[in-house]
Amino acid sequence: MSDCILEAQDIRKSFFFKGSLITVLDNVQFHIRTGQFVSIIGPSGCGKSTFLELLAGITTPDEGFILLKGNDITAKTGFLGYMPQDDLLFPWLTVMKNILLPVKVTGSNEQEAKQKINELLPLFGLQNYTEHLPYQLSGGLKQRVALLRTYMCSADILLLDEPLAKLDALTRSQLQSWLKDIVHLLNLTVILVTHDIDEAIMLSDRIDLMGINPGTFIESIKLDRNNPLTAEEQLKLKIKLRSQLVNGESNNDKK
Ligand SMILES: Nc1ncnc2c1ncn2[C@@H]1O[C@H](COP(=O)(O)OP(=O)(O)OP(=O)(O)O)[C@@H](O)[C@H]1O
Ligand SMILES: [Mg+2]
Repeated sequence: MSDCILEAQDIRKSFFFKGSLITVLDNVQFHIRTGQFVSIIGPSGCGKSTFLELLAGITTPDEGFILLKGNDITAKTGFLGYMPQDDLLFPWLTVMKNILLPVKVTGSNEQEAKQKINELLPLFGLQNYTEHLPYQLSGGLKQRVALLRTYMCSADILLLDEPLAKLDALTRSQLQSWLKDIVHLLNLTVILVTHDIDEAIMLSDRIDLMGINPGTFIESIKLDRNNPLTAEEQLKLKIKLRSQLVNGESNNDKK
């Protein structure tokens, strides 16, 4: 696809479990354009986190390729900003030091990075917390630190694995609005894994639905940010997504 920035082609991934090879992902095709926000929804265990790990290059597919601007980045790390499902801040490092970590790891210019972080802190609502340790932060603040750290990987494509799932409903809804604004302000391209259908509808240009056994994309729903769904359309979409999440077998009969 010519106008896409990131693409996954014909991905297959299996794991050995108790002596058997289990195919978790099969025939996975995916693409995203610059500035797009795509949410991935699917039943628990269908392979969403496995897919993000493959995109991030921290695992290798059995078959298939990951292409960034047409270049093969399969099994190569450092090209995309990846925030894992259980992103842990280092408890002994301050907020500033946690955010600086990717900069230190990649050996980038620390002074320049600090300047950039200082500019970004107010946008992330963290300007008063730079010297705090993670245990001194609320859940919402911790997730914002983790997001800023992910952004400091010098990537404008972010892979976010359920970043808001563990927050209480009010904080989650506040951070959803904040995320929507920040994605726009920083012109980010985002792939978000979520179980929250409302979150996906609110934030996405596209929702890709994944089936299970094996995990593969079974439907893609386009949304228009400039032309939001009516209440009735939203309800219909929610009912459809919910029923597909419950009956999420892929029925991939090609094997
Ligand atoms: N390293 C591994 N070894 C063996 N099996 C694995 C490994 N990693 C993942 N799996 C299996 O692959 C399947 C997909 O796991 P994955 O974590 O990608 O699911 P998920 O869609 O992210 O689920 P959830 O919504 O619960 O986070 C699961 O059955 C899981 O047990
Ligand atoms: Mg997961």
